[in-house]
Amino acid sequence: MEPLRVALIGAGGIAQAHLEAYQKVPEATVVAVVDIVEERARRTAERWNIPKWFTDYRQALKENEVEAVDICTPHNVHAPPALEALKSGRSVLVEKPMTARLADAVQMVRLARQKNLTLFCGIASRWSPYVQQVKAFLQEKPLGDLYYAEMVVHRRRGIPGPTFTRKDTAGGGAVLDIGVYAVDTLLFYLGFPKPLTCTATIGGYLGTNPEAVVKNGWFWNTEQFEVEDFGVAFLQFEGGISATVKITWAAHIDSMGQSFLLGTKGGLCLSHPPVWYHDYGGYMVQTTLPPIESHDTFAEEIRHFVRAVRTGEPPPVQPEEALMVQSILEAIYQSAQKRRQVVVKWPIPI
Ligand SMILES: NC(=O)c1ccc[n+]([C@@H]2O[C@H](COP(=O)([O-])OP(=O)(O)OC[C@H]3O[C@@H](n4cnc5c(N)ncnc54)[C@H](O)[C@@H]3O)[C@@H](O)[C@H]2O)c1
Repeated sequence: MEPLRVALIGAGGIAQAHLEAYQKVPEATVVAVVDIVEERARRTAERWNIPKWFTDYRQALKENEVEAVDICTPHNVHAPPALEALKSGRSVLVEKPMTARLADAVQMVRLARQKNLTLFCGIASRWSPYVQQVKAFLQEKPLGDLYYAEMVVHRRRGIPGPTFTRKDTAGGGAVLDIGVYAVDTLLFYLGFPKPLTCTATIGGYLGTNPEAVVKNGWFWNTEQFEVEDFGVAFLQFEGGISATVKITWAAHIDSMGQSFLLGTKGGLCLSHPPVWYHDYGGYMVQTTLPPIESHDTFAEEIRHFVRAVRTGEPPPVQPEEALMVQSILEAIYQSAQKRRQVVVKWPIPI
């Protein structure tokens, strides 16, 4: 079969990782690259031997040969190219999170469904061998009924560049950027139970402080910091399941605790490798799961995307799953803003 012809939109940091991964996936080929910064579009095309480059994604969509787009723009700039691409009959691979706003994500899912096109949100943690290992382990219900979980994504000092910290490009901060991994992984393990309520707090505590930009952490521009660097949420789901999600881009502590799952028959510490706590023969015991090999998550993601486009089968991160993640992320912002518990909008009519 001919390789899937892709236009890559947004030629920044992660686009280079995607383009490296395309080299390993003969089932796809990048035929055009787009960036609003002309120099970046041109240089990326030269670096990766991409035949065409543009400064406006609409120009790339005029190219008949383009069958699909891979969107690597900042969070607030996911929806416009995704919607245009879907309208013009192209399938979409979009970097995480699906969008900055739930309403935009709903529009994308609706349009993809109407047009019968693939919409795949590349939440890379799904391809993490550790996440896949835990999911496989959970299949036989070794923990009994799950009733509580904690998911932690923590960086002591890891605030990214200005497209992630300016409100106009990012839409939100750490909650959107890395909270998406915690929420998606949590839902994946729990089997996507219906979310009910959310009580959350968020804040930007270190992001604007020049003294927090230390020599052994990431560099960021404190003058362009307009979002949150911290968030904690307590979530309740149908079936009596609850969870806490803790998110930091920057905090004066080396850990916010270990992620774990608790069930009626066992618990699982989500370390690498994971440790299973259970009873056996009248004793409390623990079993360490075997270590596993890592793989190229982006190449894996692209292969899944091509397969979904070519076969019409749903992608492994189904649009409705990404939408549930998005509805929880939005609930976190709403609860933090209102300073009270909010009902998570779910299900959303599509
Ligand atoms: N999966 C991962 O591990 C991972 C890691 C980092 C970033 N990401 C995600 O990838 C996306 C991009 O992140 P990044 O680190 O590459 O950001 P970045 O700021 O390095 O790159 C974004 C690029 O998009 C370009 N751009 C902005 N508006 C545009 C438009 N309208 N049309 C075309 N290009 C436009 C910018 O000029 C820039 O070159 C984000 O969604 C981010 O969350 C994923």
